[in-house]
Amino acid sequence: MSSTQFPFSAPATEPVPSANFLSGKHIVLGMSGGIACYKGAELCRALVKAGASVQVVMTEAATEFMTAVTMQALSGRPVFTSQWDSRAAGGQDNNMAHINLSREAHAVVVAPASADFMAKLLHGRADELLSLMCLARPIASVPLIVAPAMNREMWQHPATQRNMAQLKADGTYVLDVGAGEQACGEVGDGRMLEPHELLAELQAFFTPKVLAGKRVCITAGPTYEAIDPVRGMTNRSSGKMGFALAQACANAGAEVCLVAGPVALDTPRGVSRVDVRSAQDMLSAVNMASQNCDVFIACAAVADWAPANAATQKLKKDGSGAVPTLSFVENPDILASVASSPAALAGRLYCVGFAAESHDLLAHAQAKRVRKGVPMLVGNIGPDTFGQDDNALVLITEQAPVATERADKLSLAHWLLSHIAPQLT
Ligand code: CTP
Repeated sequence: MSSTQFPFSAPATEPVPSANFLSGKHIVLGMSGGIACYKGAELCRALVKAGASVQVVMTEAATEFMTAVTMQALSGRPVFTSQWDSRAAGGQDNNMAHINLSREAHAVVVAPASADFMAKLLHGRADELLSLMCLARPIASVPLIVAPAMNREMWQHPATQRNMAQLKADGTYVLDVGAGEQACGEVGDGRMLEPHELLAELQAFFTPKVLAGKRVCITAGPTYEAIDPVRGMTNRSSGKMGFALAQACANAGAEVCLVAGPVALDTPRGVSRVDVRSAQDMLSAVNMASQNCDVFIACAAVADWAPANAATQKLKKDGSGAVPTLSFVENPDILASVASSPAALAGRLYCVGFAAESHDLLAHAQAKRVRKGVPMLVGNIGPDTFGQDDNALVLITEQAPVATERADKLSLAHWLLSHIAPQLT
């Protein structure tokens, strides 16, 4: 029996659905001409790996950069490149690939979308299969997502910017571009996003928007309390759960501010991040960031104490064997402080705490929820979660506790949101 299980009053266990929102989706992957076709090939592979079915449609120019044979091998389906291709498509044998290919799709994703292809889309031109299919897709039920890819001058050109704005106004979901070195040797904006970034965008696109219009502040990671300029006290929190929560909230439609202690993690897409070190810094940042928020989630492992007087210079050994004596002061309790703010007391700010325990999880977590004055607290076993990619949680509210099996942290984050969202008015 793992230490997260409950020998006495075992809470009911809820399944944790997977956070892979691409699983089971059918994507029509359109490719227009450009060197970024190699990233389109990687994207195809990643989509298939994520459990999506992929139907590739290529322009003639795209086949100059990547062969249809390669794309067929990666997608596991015949590739369509011509509107005169009479093979059955989408289960229909009526020689109308431009109609049939999009009918079963959850989305048409054009990656790469060249400047020329975006211009064609904008004008509703339909002189080859991919643009014809985009025009003929059911606009109300099959979203069109384009990933631009071009030289920086082409990207900045007023015509491209005008086309992009009009495409957005027409309901097309236009992804950002990356910056950096381009195939032509120039440096600037216009690179297509990397395959893993495209995948993250598509995961976000398909995430149910249970937090649309909400603002969320999240603390994550450890704090670092300085002893002197080169030494300090910290703890083993990796920040992974807080970062997963930030990503889940952003993908679910929230505006997210992540207040992070010192961790080596990338900022999740669409999240604004404030880096802090000490508990005092974290409190100041949270006081700013939580203003006008609807939800505060305290996921950080905040140090309970800080050295009373951090030395301004490095403490040196004097050779006598004497050791320094440290005295401590208690750090502010960030969660309790936010939970007693006017916004929280008035019910405008919903506060969620975490409890990292080593034993008697249920009893400690239940007592901690009451002590911190929060409506919801998430218990977990510290040594079982620090640094791990997965975890098991127990959710403590006024109602009966609910536990999960071990699951990856992003899925746990979405599971938690499914409990938080209904509490928000
Ligand atoms: N917390 C906080 N500020 C602190 C200490 C904790 O905001 N100074 C928050 C944590 O982010 C978490 C919750 O309070 O959401 C509980 O943290 P935990 O470390 O489990 O408990 P403590 O309050 O430190 O109590 P104890 O050490 O007695 O378990």
